Amino acid sequence: MILFDVYPLFDITIEKGKGCHVWDDKGEEYLDLYGGHAVISIGHAHPHYVEAISNQVGKLGFYSNSVQNPLQKQLAKRLGEVCGYDNYQLFLINSGAEANENALKLASFHNGRTRVLSLEKAFHGRTSLAVEATNNPKIIAPINANGHVTYLPINDLEAWERELAKGDVCAVIIECIQGVGGIRMVTKEFYAGLRALCTKYNTVFICDEIQCGYGRSGKFFAHQWLMDSTADAPDMITVAKGICNGFPMGGVLISPKFAPVYGQLGTTFGGNHLACAGAIAVLDVMEQEHLVENAEKVGNHIVSRLKELQKEYPVITDVRGCGLMIGIELAVPYKEPRTRLVKEQHCFTGCAGTNVIRLLPPLCLTMQEADDFIERFKAVL
Ligand SMILES: Cc1ncc(COP(=O)(O)O)c(C=O)c1O
Repeated sequence: MILFDVYPLFDITIEKGKGCHVWDDKGEEYLDLYGGHAVISIGHAHPHYVEAISNQVGKLGFYSNSVQNPLQKQLAKRLGEVCGYDNYQLFLINSGAEANENALKLASFHNGRTRVLSLEKAFHGRTSLAVEATNNPKIIAPINANGHVTYLPINDLEAWERELAKGDVCAVIIECIQGVGGIRMVTKEFYAGLRALCTKYNTVFICDEIQCGYGRSGKFFAHQWLMDSTADAPDMITVAKGICNGFPMGGVLISPKFAPVYGQLGTTFGGNHLACAGAIAVLDVMEQEHLVENAEKVGNHIVSRLKELQKEYPVITDVRGCGLMIGIELAVPYKEPRTRLVKEQHCFTGCAGTNVIRLLPPLCLTMQEADDFIERFKAVL
């Protein structure tokens, strides 16, 4: 059998990692400003995480959701305390798409409606409703194009109100910092206005924090930059990627206004013992090593150094981002500089659209590693 060839790959085989560095099968070292697509939160092969996962798999890797699993309760308690939503409920699954799928499903059970509003350039995953809410016709198969979703411009509150006022919208789903969309940020006014409109029209307000959340923005959740006394929290928050530092896991944080119903949601693998042990270890490290604060500090440093570079190199047309989620917009397609960064400078980065280099490093990136990246990027410029 051969692999189903859907990924354009670099001809590099990564064999091991440590912190913000990875090594290939020839022993060559690379600086990782990509974090395996925003997944590595506490750094590669963190000893505390390795120990927690190893101990757990030696004891019990999996048992079904038909028996008590104290690790799930422990994770829910810890996550609630760390992120500030200790009155929310947690439903655990295995990926980001599944998190959004379940959030939208629960929203529809709640208000009986079927319409969804999502942002232009949104990415919410590749399964049925999650892909329909994703604003990319190339990845929506005819079977998924069921007309549930209207895509609307970012920060244009009037356009959203026009749709919401029709009174038939089940859910609004937004990324407060768009990842695939090219590091575009929702404004405070838009967040507050949209939150209030959702309450007014009985529409469920979902923040997809799969990429921008879990500490990456320099607050636990990106929407927490936008909240103040006039703006309430989302009804649901979806998480995945960094939650377990590479072990597949996703979650939906659900406000107390949603009452659980036995059997309405469910999963075989979601919330398994191994994933929970890994996710608890991730929270331990995030707290002990102050990784959320580090993301803000090092992210600000990178942005200010990139803005200095922009004065010297007009090919950089914009630098934007928050914490360790940074977009460098170029006047040329990202393809050549990004490839040269990997091949010549041994540095992995992400990308978005056609012209944006996207930085999504592990949250433990040091100031020195940040400066190292700037030097490598400068060499390519
Ligand atoms: C904002 C956002 N939502 C959802 C997803 C889907 O997550 P997964 O690939 O784990 O299904 C992604 C993945 O890149 C994402 O960036």
